[in-house]
Amino acid sequence: MFSRENEPETRKHVTLTVNGKKVERHIHSRMTLAEFLREELNLTGTKVGCNRGECGSCTVIMDGDPVLSCTVLGVEASGREVLTIEGLASEGKLHPIQEAFVENDALQCGYCTPGMIMSIKALLDRNPNPTDEDVRRSIDGNLCRCGSYPNIIKATIEASRKINQK
Ligand code: FES
Ligand code: FES
Repeated sequence: MFSRENEPETRKHVTLTVNGKKVERHIHSRMTLAEFLREELNLTGTKVGCNRGECGSCTVIMDGDPVLSCTVLGVEASGREVLTIEGLASEGKLHPIQEAFVENDALQCGYCTPGMIMSIKALLDRNPNPTDEDVRRSIDGNLCRCGSYPNIIKATIEASRKINQK
């Protein structure tokens, strides 16, 4: 929960695109992008695990690159294009990565899953035919405490095939 009770109120105007929609807000200058997404936009699919850049659960894509949204300020995201897990499904249909996760049991508790999927989305956008090793590297900042890694890798390779067949 965002709280800076003892700090002077410093608000800034931000304008950014989130999941294809332009949004504008006046936000506290120290609010993180993760807090902005969850608390201002109610996009709670982005999870906050450690809140200090260590677990990857808050990963979103900003201007094409995966970023840890707990380490980016909302004001730094102004003028940028942000994609979150909510932006992947379209017309009621899951994204092929999401489908492959379901079909391959690539999650258990699911807490790491949104961040994991966003890292994988960024990988497949720049490398449509990744090897197992490429997948491992792309998620080396995403911790899964349930140990779903083997199925996550399998799901990613399957998702890449599905996307390439389209
Ligand atoms: S919540 Fe951002 S890296 Fe853990
Ligand atoms: S599925 Fe539980 S942390 Fe990854």
